[in-house]
Amino acid sequence: MQDYREFLDEILVDEETLQRRIAELGIQISRDYQGKSLHLICILRGGVMFLTDLMRRISVPHTVDFMAVSSYGSARQSTGQVRITLDLKDEIHGLDVLLVEDIVDSGYTIASVLDLLRTRHPLSLRVCTLLDKPKRREVSVPLDYCGFVIPNKFVFGYGLDLDEYYRNLPFIATVNLKKYHPQA
Ligand code: PRP
Repeated sequence: MQDYREFLDEILVDEETLQRRIAELGIQISRDYQGKSLHLICILRGGVMFLTDLMRRISVPHTVDFMAVSSYGSARQSTGQVRITLDLKDEIHGLDVLLVEDIVDSGYTIASVLDLLRTRHPLSLRVCTLLDKPKRREVSVPLDYCGFVIPNKFVFGYGLDLDEYYRNLPFIATVNLKKYHPQA
């Protein structure tokens, strides 16, 4: 695989800025969910890095679960419906659910997951995304907590992949597509 330094255009959010903002979100969430039955749901795979750092910053008791949905790279209907490929382990009835995502782009993923989870009657249902790319939005979704609003650029790192690689990088960077060669 190519060394990411060969195609990195700019570091959009550096590690320190990321971690500082995640700490702020943790404080805010801890305040809002005091005395509630907070249940974090991470949408795999991109949201994993964010989830693990965020939960270390949340001081109220909480549980976690995971789900995965098919998105890019598979057929997406014009309605924007995405397919659940890994469902939750636990029921969410009566829980205060907070969905944790790495990025909201078109909004289809979050909108579909919200539609599905509403049918399972959580006590409350909110969304926490690290990144919001509003220029790409095709369906309106409520974002209750947001780390950073970013421009319409191709980004990678900190959970976000390029052909499944580079998720481990501790920062969010933009790609110079002319210099990125997936087969290299
Ligand atoms: C990405 C990201 C979100 C979704 C956002 O997932 O993690 O789940 O796309 O896009 P949308 O708002 O246009 O629906 P991806 O399908 O790349 O899978 P991954 O998380 O496994 O990388």
